[in-house]
Amino acid sequence: MSPTPPIKDPSRRDFLQKSSAAVVGGSLVASLGVARTVHAAGSDTLRVGLIGCGGRGSGAAKNAMQAEDNLQLVALADAFGDQLDHCKKILERTLGKKYAVNDENCFVGFDAYKQLLETDLDVVLLCTPPHFRPAQLRAAIEAGKHVFCEKPVAVDPTGVRSVLETVELAKQKNLSIVSGLCWRYEYGVRATMDRIKDGAIGDIVSIQENYLANTLWHRGRKDSWSEMEYQMRNWLYFAWLSGDHIVEQHIHSLDKALWLMDDQPPVSCTGLGGRQARTDEQWGHIFDHFAVCYEWANGVKTFAYTRQMKGCHNDVDDYVLGTKGSARILKNEITRIDKPGDEGKWKYKGIKASMYDIEHKELFAGIRSGKIINNGTYMSYSTLMAIMGREACYTGQKITWEQAMNSQQDLSPPAYAWTDIEVPQVAVPGKTKLA
Ligand SMILES: NC(=O)c1ccc[n+]([C@@H]2O[C@H](COP(=O)([O-])OP(=O)(O)OC[C@H]3O[C@@H](n4cnc5c(N)ncnc54)[C@H](O)[C@@H]3O)[C@@H](O)[C@H]2O)c1
Repeated sequence: MSPTPPIKDPSRRDFLQKSSAAVVGGSLVASLGVARTVHAAGSDTLRVGLIGCGGRGSGAAKNAMQAEDNLQLVALADAFGDQLDHCKKILERTLGKKYAVNDENCFVGFDAYKQLLETDLDVVLLCTPPHFRPAQLRAAIEAGKHVFCEKPVAVDPTGVRSVLETVELAKQKNLSIVSGLCWRYEYGVRATMDRIKDGAIGDIVSIQENYLANTLWHRGRKDSWSEMEYQMRNWLYFAWLSGDHIVEQHIHSLDKALWLMDDQPPVSCTGLGGRQARTDEQWGHIFDHFAVCYEWANGVKTFAYTRQMKGCHNDVDDYVLGTKGSARILKNEITRIDKPGDEGKWKYKGIKASMYDIEHKELFAGIRSGKIINNGTYMSYSTLMAIMGREACYTGQKITWEQAMNSQQDLSPPAYAWTDIEVPQVAVPGKTKLA
């Protein structure tokens, strides 16, 4: 092992010692993981790498770099060279001096994330399609990096269980995991949630979660692409990559229901869904609508609706009914039953700020102060909630939390290679089975 280089900047040593305090006396691997970051830059600059250089990854890198002064983006990884090059051009232009990515720190391919994690880094942003999150999160925490982790964190129960294990490892190593479930970082939503938890609408009776929205992008097909490349470039439409849109998109709503229920998971759910408007093969095999009823042990129900269709009524909000009133979470509004007119109405009028910026500000502030953030449990539970809803709709059966948590379903392809892979059949309720 090479000798430890001197640390010139005491401020960097200070904060990294604080953030590694909990691993002193912990496993050797754990302390080595964090120690690597202590000696990384020789200054108090935190070095950040991005895995998954698409739309959200480019956005997350910008949000991260705005969090504070002493940050640099130093490495990029993507499955595809053209995606990486496009992101590079955008970030080079927008980040100024904070863009410090050398060509030798740009990695392409399925193993690009492993190569990136071997470079000199403190923090990684995980922004690939959800399928890859469990393995990449585990590798990042094992390598001793603090993590910003986009939602959802898995596409199947096997992935969720892996993430839950990694979340525990991150706690032992005192490493941050900040989740991209961004509404948890929005000031108006937080204020509305706080009031509900303080009893502003009494006891919660039921919740309605709507994510009724338009269709999303499609990136076409090229003759030169293998089926694997086609599916990865159009990952939204393949459940092994995205989890289907109930997992990929509606998770934002389901996570707010989980939050309202104090992060206690539902006991079971039933649902229905199908594929009515997006029936062409270009839309892969996913559904275009789902309606799921989740039930908690105390009898509270969440009715969750999500749709991706053109030309329909759109609505994204959370409607909460309580014994003393009601709330709309995204509108930041509360209405009391017992107080008529304006007296019974409350609306958040505080500071507005981008939740995408706030999540990164809190991540880096936590690293600096040693008050490490770990959003791991709720991000895993809301992912499993979405998966159990999908499976209730795919199979037509009632699915319990226990069943979902213990399911052996693993949607991984046979190999990560640029070859032909199957397009899964569209699920048929009553016939499709949960593994
Ligand atoms: N929090 C939010 O509001 C929000 C918004 C949009 C997307 N997202 C999430 O962010 C993630 C990325 O979404 P996006 O819209 O940026 O998609 P995207 O397709 O634009 O970007 C994904 C990138 O990951 C790359 N990639 C694919 N497999 C990879 C692998 N194995 N290793 C490395 N790179 C790989 C792709 O080539 C692509 O560049 C998804 O999980 C999505 O749900 C979150």
